[in-house]
Amino acid sequence: MNNDIFSPFKIKRFDIKNRIGVAPMTRMSSTEDSIPRKDVLDFLVTRAKNGTAIVYTEAIVTDYESAQGYPGQSRMLTQRQIDAWLPVTEAIRENGSISICQIFHCGRMAWQDVNPAKRVIAPSPLTPTQHNPLTGIAYEVPDEMSQFDIDHVINGFVQTAQGAIKAGFDGVEIHCAHGYLVSQFLSSYSNKRKDRYGGSMPNRFRFAGEIIEAVRKVVPEEKLLVARISNWGIADMEVSLFANSAEWQEMVQLFDGSSIDALSVSTYDYSQKAFGTDKNMAALTREKTQLPIMICGKIHDRATAVDALKDADILLSGKSMLLNPQFAKDISSDKALPLYSSDQANIAYTATPLP
Ligand SMILES: Cc1cc2nc3c(=O)[nH]c(=O)nc-3n(C[C@H](O)[C@H](O)[C@H](O)COP(=O)(O)O)c2cc1C
Repeated sequence: MNNDIFSPFKIKRFDIKNRIGVAPMTRMSSTEDSIPRKDVLDFLVTRAKNGTAIVYTEAIVTDYESAQGYPGQSRMLTQRQIDAWLPVTEAIRENGSISICQIFHCGRMAWQDVNPAKRVIAPSPLTPTQHNPLTGIAYEVPDEMSQFDIDHVINGFVQTAQGAIKAGFDGVEIHCAHGYLVSQFLSSYSNKRKDRYGGSMPNRFRFAGEIIEAVRKVVPEEKLLVARISNWGIADMEVSLFANSAEWQEMVQLFDGSSIDALSVSTYDYSQKAFGTDKNMAALTREKTQLPIMICGKIHDRATAVDALKDADILLSGKSMLLNPQFAKDISSDKALPLYSSDQANIAYTATPLP
């Protein structure tokens, strides 16, 4: 693996100028129009100007019925929403970087009052054990998704991906991580279905696979289609969503056999050894796929960046990108850089424009 942070990397037709990306970060800044605040959009362009090769959007909600998990999230479904993003993708491209739109359905983590249809749906009628951290209230018991719901949700992913392509994005990422809807299907912790969407790993992967193949049809071959996966969820964070490395790797092989162009592995800490093995999540993933791998989790200075790239091709940063506009430049030196806390990252949700 070439572990030079500033070496170029090719994914399909894209010459990615270095190995540094802005991780997807929800900012909850939209009003009823589902369009982020101007300074939130500018924040992404600034990261491209400052040398970051890949810029991810926040998680974009895929429908108006049941997909939204937090107040102030954004959509890519109406012409006005698409038009709001066009200058952003253009500016990112002008700075020699690429833009990827992350698309997401929250499933059982729904924030009921913000979903116009007020529906809460999931693979199985089970809530996380933890209450919603934002409200302190128990999550609503979801409806077990019918075939109608499954088809409807897939259509939302397709329409949103289409919107992203119209808005000029270079790629689309399907959020299959963090205990949201697709992740809920993948993990037997939340998927207790007895039909062809539950049980074995191939069955639990079926929903993800159907979304990927449907979305691929509207994401042209020359653009990127990425999936983000994780072994942890936002609620019940201590739970390992997969039983062991074999189960994780079986899932990786299924993604590898699908039409995606890269796999993004989200961890809480990239260096942590996983599933009782002596390997981290990126290394376990690499054993089963030759797809480009992005890795994220506590990569905050030059030493951690170089180390993380031993097992992955691209590093994504969340909190360091959020709090340090010069992060892509700063990790070229050996200067000491802080490991920001989740509390510090809460500035993401305030009206304070970030530099
Ligand atoms: C404010 C904030 C919002 C986030 N929103 C998303 C999101 O919309 N989608 C996603 O996949 N991850 C999201 N994450 C997780 C980050 O992408 C990343 O995986 C996490 O912060 C760990 O990386 P870090 O240690 O570099 O911060 C968010 C993180 C933060 C701090």
